[in-house]
Amino acid sequence: MAYLNDHYLKLKSGYLFPEIARRVKVFCDQNPVAAKRLIRCGIGDVTEPLPPAVITALHKAVDEMSKRETFHGYGPEQGYEFLRRAIAQNDYRDRGLDIADDEIFVSDGSKCDCANILDILGHQNKIALLDPVYPVYVDTNVMAGHTGPADESGSYKELVYLPCTPANDFVPEIPKDKVDLVYLCYPNNPTGATARREQLAAWIDYALKNKTILLYDAAYEAYISDPQIPHSIYEIPGARECAIEFRSFSKNGGFTGTRCAFTVVPKTLLASTSDGRFTSLHPLWLRRSTTKFNAVSYIVQRAAEALYTPEGEAQVKALIEHYLGNAKVLREGAQAAGLNTFGGVNAPYLWVQTPEGVTSWQAFDRILRDANVVITPGSGFGSKGEGFFRISAFNSRANAVEVARRLQALKW
Ligand code: MLT
Repeated sequence: MAYLNDHYLKLKSGYLFPEIARRVKVFCDQNPVAAKRLIRCGIGDVTEPLPPAVITALHKAVDEMSKRETFHGYGPEQGYEFLRRAIAQNDYRDRGLDIADDEIFVSDGSKCDCANILDILGHQNKIALLDPVYPVYVDTNVMAGHTGPADESGSYKELVYLPCTPANDFVPEIPKDKVDLVYLCYPNNPTGATARREQLAAWIDYALKNKTILLYDAAYEAYISDPQIPHSIYEIPGARECAIEFRSFSKNGGFTGTRCAFTVVPKTLLASTSDGRFTSLHPLWLRRSTTKFNAVSYIVQRAAEALYTPEGEAQVKALIEHYLGNAKVLREGAQAAGLNTFGGVNAPYLWVQTPEGVTSWQAFDRILRDANVVITPGSGFGSKGEGFFRISAFNSRANAVEVARRLQALKW
């Protein structure tokens, strides 16, 4: 007899975005006329084409693959040196941050890395997460057997949820008790909030005192427009000793379908063995990568490298300005509709409070039915997301303007 992984059976319904897609499909099948005017502001998937610098690099790399002399087979599992160097130099050393090329691990996505990192961390860790939160952190811990069953609100007892609300500007209090791992995500998905330097410094202080590791998801750092807001956790002294950072080319270079990201694991980051010896995590992550991964394709890594050229940087800047422009249009539209709205300034997401007495899923249904717009219900991100919904600014400008108009026309 073969046994399955029982922990999967504890997961609440489907993964959020496929579940939304399923509901939208049912709606569209039943309402073909409305389906034609549907605008999707649900999943944070980019809409604009890849930057021209990336396209040029892709063509060149494809041509290289067509000749024996320049063909590439298996690449180094942790990424080609040309890309690791470009990342470490441009994203870190040029900003005064001490990150070596071989502390960068290139991968096919931050979602995968945020999940895979659990491979090298112990099962006995006490884990804290923001609430609301990107569902991958919770679900992968459930899959790994780090929780019991969920309660009615969808919360798992063994996890420590750190409430993020308008009262704390969506940056939680530091826990009173000791936890071993904390997932932080800033600019935040889903609330669009950012963390200030002193707030991150307080987390680093807590982590160093308690020998906690911070799993810092900075997938949206390119959207930071306020010069006071840190782009990387390594801007805070002490972070090399307590933090892993996840970054992605999805939301800046438009790589959601092209797939390329990276994780920074400093060699100075230690964790304890079960018998109390502190050991570097870097060789474990390298070992995991070389065993379980065969590298992002050469073609895609050359494409990612092109994002760091002067043309690539200018084109990324234009893409970010486009999506942040959408966020402004949507924010002003939601506010004009009388909705209490957060985020959307240093992030491509708006976090909107539902009108009094309307749940997140009721708002989802209402906006889908009456405005033919897909949003993401806040409760899908955790119990503290109830009473909110998220609007993604990844769209054409025309669609953003139309969504802003439809929100104002909506009668609650
Ligand atoms: C989201 O909509 O939250 C993101 O697109 C999901 C992801 O990046 O995996």
